[in-house]
Amino acid sequence: MSSSLETETREGLEGVVAATTRLSSVDGEAGVLLIAGFPVEDLAPVASFEEVVYLLWNGALPRPDELAAFARRMAARRALPGAALDLLRAAAGRRVPVMDALRMAAGTLSLLPGTGEDAREDGLLLVAAFPTIVASYWRLLNSEEPVEPREDLGHAASFLHLLSGEEPAAERARGVETYLNTVVDHGFNASTFTARVIVSTRSDLVSAVTGAVGALKGPLHGGAPGPALDMVFEIGSAERAEAVLRDKLARGERLMGFGHRVYRVRDPRADVLAEAAERFYKDKGDRGVYELARAVEATALRLLREHKPDRRIDTNVEFYTALLLHGLGLPTELFTPAFAIGRVAGWVAHGLEQLAHGRLIRPQSAYVGERDRRWVPVEAR
Ligand code: COA
Repeated sequence: MSSSLETETREGLEGVVAATTRLSSVDGEAGVLLIAGFPVEDLAPVASFEEVVYLLWNGALPRPDELAAFARRMAARRALPGAALDLLRAAAGRRVPVMDALRMAAGTLSLLPGTGEDAREDGLLLVAAFPTIVASYWRLLNSEEPVEPREDLGHAASFLHLLSGEEPAAERARGVETYLNTVVDHGFNASTFTARVIVSTRSDLVSAVTGAVGALKGPLHGGAPGPALDMVFEIGSAERAEAVLRDKLARGERLMGFGHRVYRVRDPRADVLAEAAERFYKDKGDRGVYELARAVEATALRLLREHKPDRRIDTNVEFYTALLLHGLGLPTELFTPAFAIGRVAGWVAHGLEQLAHGRLIRPQSAYVGERDRRWVPVEAR
């Protein structure tokens, strides 16, 4: 904040309330996240992703017939235009990062007939197509042909099927679904804000979501879970945790998966994902990795308290995202794209809300450059 300027300037718009929303509420002091009124921990582990998307877009949970029709319509939109697959093939040839391929392919959805005419239809298409884009691209990167989407699987199960070509076990699909629900919306984060700014000009949802993917990919937003997992593996065994973490803090490094701009207490999403991960590792996964991560977390929290006694630095969503997605067999390169597959439904929800009630988002900047300059023609400089 600067007081020397005529109007108050808030760098990074911190603390600025730029719109009203009915979609999600983030209470950083209490550590509470509401999704359309429901605490995230009540909704995420039990609801289907399609149910959560319906809730966000319509403001109420669907009845069984409404849910079945909505899920059917979404499943029917999984296939990509041929040009999207051509583009993904070209991108795989150059080994473009997955988030860049996703951004480029998202734009090609405008090739499908009727896009740009009805925002809800565009939203449905975007949410339906994201897993197909990510999974098809991942297969192409690994010299495998994309898999034909099936319409008889739920959204989360379909993503796993598109990745491997096999129908996933129910508990793996449930794990992915819990993850997608947990990250579906989170207030005015950078990518959601990007989407809303684009829609606020009365632009279309494909444009808004394409811009949002670009915002999400940055390491200050969606990029932390991979490094969090790397840190756990680097530590390798519980008895090394204290020495490795102390060393990192002494070198001024940040411990990945801890701290948050808004939450001053434990991120409620971390609990939802920790529980999902625990159940999964107990039944199927490598219990040793789970125990190691818990030990790393406990040591990190103790050392962070020592290191920054005046700050409340707690576990954030990314730490358990890493653990859950790893347990589900996703490679680290797909952690941020998986985030996008969940969050795209929130971007669309905000786009629809903005179209219905919002004004053009157009803040101001405080000019701090030179004044009173005199023009000199180029030949006289
Ligand atoms: N490890 C070590 N120190 C940390 C830390 C962490 N994970 N998170 C915050 N701090 C320290 C900073 O070094 C800084 O200290 P300084 O004032 O001496 O420079 C201070 O605490 C800043 O705290 P705060 O205001 O709470 O953080 P922020 O809002 O500036 O940053 C994050 C928030 C998320 C960027 C930050 O906590 C971080 O980098 N975390 C690790 C990366 C991560 O997990 N990102 C995913 C977020 S969902």
